[in-house]
Amino acid sequence: MRLRRALGIALSAALGAACSATGTTTTPAPAPADPLALVGISDLDPSPTVVEFALTAREADKDLGGAKLSRAWTYNGAMPGPLVDAKVGDELVIHFKNELPEPTMIHWHGIRLPIAMDGSPSSQKPVPPGGTFEYRFKLRDAGLFWFHPHVRTDVQIERGLVGVIRVAPADPKEQPSVDEERVLVLDDVRVNDDGSFPTYLDDNAKMMGREGNTVLVNGVRDARIALRPGAIERLRILNAANGRFFNLKIPGVRFRVIGTDGGLVESPYDVDTLLIAPAERYDVVFQVPSTPGTLPLTSQPYERGHHTGELPPLPVATLAIAGEPPSVKRELPERGPAVAKLPAPTGEAIPFALDEGTNAAGDLIFTLNGQVWPAVAAARMALNETRVLEITNKSEMDHPFHVHGAFFQVLTRNGAPEPANRIANKDTIIVPAKSTLRVATRFDEVGAWMVHCHIEEHAEGGMMGEILVGDAVSHAH
Ligand code: C2O
Ligand code: CU
Ligand code: CU
Repeated sequence: MRLRRALGIALSAALGAACSATGTTTTPAPAPADPLALVGISDLDPSPTVVEFALTAREADKDLGGAKLSRAWTYNGAMPGPLVDAKVGDELVIHFKNELPEPTMIHWHGIRLPIAMDGSPSSQKPVPPGGTFEYRFKLRDAGLFWFHPHVRTDVQIERGLVGVIRVAPADPKEQPSVDEERVLVLDDVRVNDDGSFPTYLDDNAKMMGREGNTVLVNGVRDARIALRPGAIERLRILNAANGRFFNLKIPGVRFRVIGTDGGLVESPYDVDTLLIAPAERYDVVFQVPSTPGTLPLTSQPYERGHHTGELPPLPVATLAIAGEPPSVKRELPERGPAVAKLPAPTGEAIPFALDEGTNAAGDLIFTLNGQVWPAVAAARMALNETRVLEITNKSEMDHPFHVHGAFFQVLTRNGAPEPANRIANKDTIIVPAKSTLRVATRFDEVGAWMVHCHIEEHAEGGMMGEILVGDAVSHAH
């Protein structure tokens, strides 16, 4: 599949510059490129079912509000990196090159694939500086997925290594009908006044995961999102932050949640605020108010432990409502496609206890089943069996728990059964402080699949483990 969008924008910008320089143009200037547009990739394979592209991790200068430009770590020079568009059944072929000064590798978050392609310490040796690796896998699920390093994630993701894969359903009729669809990558970064990245973590960042002083929407500070009055808007939102939970609100607007990590849900539901933990994705639609003007998109205070809920609302973006309302009237979608429920679980539940503590040296540690990665004992399950994971958060703060290589479905929250109409395929879920979630999961690939908190400082601080499926062995020990 050839995607020329990114190229097209660059070309028309160049032409526009040339024309205004000579002053001879009679054609109107092209509409300014949307600053929130994510860069694309150039597809090297003409086949409509193969998306093949080069992906290079390298340093690039980026304006993050400091006195000088910040030395970001990027995929293909962009922060966030490219948006890859593909559809179910497509094969992705990625020629990865590491031009960073340290080892890295790419994990394809939420994508079901063979273990050799998972890009985690359990499955792959990091790619050294100057090294290359070819990732190749087929897309099995529609949804919004992302990719990021799995080495020193607290540093590498923070510095900008994030990209997005939007997988469309094989049958386009499954897509809800909307006036416009946008992908929003939410992030926050901490930069010093001079634009450099801090090389140490303060105690709060160690405890809560680093929260930044600069909020970015698709890499843009003080983002303005242009919307038409009355339009039905679809937002595909990823929280790519290390530690920040976004609790989104637009005054007077209700979001209708139509999907999450693993694609569309069966029964959409409405919320006034949309809570998104690091690594989660939400797919929402809403009707833009019919009055032109501006509205703030904020993140509302949310108590995720240790009194983080007492802060004032955080500005995320400004919605600028202007122009003509759409000529075709649309309704918000009422129903989604059927989501297959996993077969009834068998065997014993697999316990995962999440906690915090201090080690012998007095340093803060994060534990899984009382151990610190890589000393955490692996769980084991059989290929294609459905098992219960019983995730108990013993600590005083929420942890967004992530499972590689499979989706899971919530069975109970603190013993209360999940309503049948809330069935959803998740790969990352908030386990609130002092609570227990039981989820069902099933792997259809053998391998050493990682599980961890997706607050990067917690994962790197020890809250990380593995599920060995089939006769798999881990490469991490
Ligand atoms: Cu998005 Cu193991 O991670
Ligand atoms: Cu993952
Ligand atoms: Cu955590």
